[in-house]
Amino acid sequence: MTLTVRSFLGGDEGSLAEDVLDGLTRPFKELPPKHFYDAAGAELFDRICDLPEYYPTRAERAILEARSDDIAALTGAAELVALGSGTAAKSRLLLSALAAAGTLRRYVPVDMTEEMIRTTGAALCADYPGLQVRGIVGDFERHLDRLGVPLEPRLVAMLGGTIGNFTPGARRRFLRHVGRLLGPRGTVLVGVDLVKDPARIEAAYDDAAGITARFNRNILRVVNRALRADFEPEQFEHVAFFDREHEWIEMRLRAQRRMTVRIADLGLTVEFAKREELRTEISAKFTPRRLAADLAAARLEPVELLTDPEGLFGLALARPVAAPQATSTRHAVAIPA
Ligand code: SAH
Ligand code: TRP
Repeated sequence: MTLTVRSFLGGDEGSLAEDVLDGLTRPFKELPPKHFYDAAGAELFDRICDLPEYYPTRAERAILEARSDDIAALTGAAELVALGSGTAAKSRLLLSALAAAGTLRRYVPVDMTEEMIRTTGAALCADYPGLQVRGIVGDFERHLDRLGVPLEPRLVAMLGGTIGNFTPGARRRFLRHVGRLLGPRGTVLVGVDLVKDPARIEAAYDDAAGITARFNRNILRVVNRALRADFEPEQFEHVAFFDREHEWIEMRLRAQRRMTVRIADLGLTVEFAKREELRTEISAKFTPRRLAADLAAARLEPVELLTDPEGLFGLALARPVAAPQATSTRHAVAIPA
């Protein structure tokens, strides 16, 4: 058996509890988006990816279909680490290209949803004979240090525009951290949604069939179940708007009326005024300039920015900036006084 799965989420309710406590007791209420993805949420996200309005998945897939062989040649990767791997549908394009190039040895999916890691991991083992799959059930904001010793060269991918869900400061810290995991010959591959007509972006996050609205409200169901809360999800309206100043889309849930919500496990009561909004996600959209600034701040050197024919989405390849005297620093055992 070449599939191993390790979980670092032992007391994960802890993280949800802290996030709920932090996020719902402040004047502008907020919940972090990683809690969208229980089994129902993952299923809804899958349906979002197939929606006519949600262009990012198709655009990113088109880039990977056209350019995975180039990415394989450029990286020569033996190991693919996928952060927020989901169903691995797009990772498969990279895996196939790396397998065809003869360099692929290991796939390391990192996601919070254990079931998804196990199912896709088993399927990949069957489909790619000889592939080692080392699943990590964890939070990529907390458990990046648990990836183990790299099989070099390592390729770390964050697809789906997930990088846009960080706030700008956290995004740069995250990229810097990823840079330290690459090793001297490693490459990072980041999928970024590009700035475009706001109407097109807003439609992608507010589809006619209402699937995104259900996905957004699902976070309240997650809190209800995990922390014995009594949110009435249907009493919250889905709101998605493009913030032109920050160049990000913001998802919110707006209380339709005044409400008092009890979160039993936290001994917490939360008041919502009529029309009060709870922010559930930002999804930053990128210009090449914003991307370059983020990479530079993270000490990463851009290699290439691949885009789809319509210019909707980008896949950025970058490498660590060679640190002067990195070798001597690493081998130093004592620091002279
Ligand atoms: N890469 C896939 C999935 C994108 S959806 C694609 O492009 O289609 C985002 C994925 O990231 C979900 O599977 C979700 O469970 C996972 N995720 C979100 N926040 C996470 C976190 N903090 N740590 C680990 N996984 C996370
Ligand atoms: N990472 C995806 C994105 O930013 C997740 C996503 C798509 C999402 N649609 C959503 C998150 C709606 C919350 C609500 O595009």
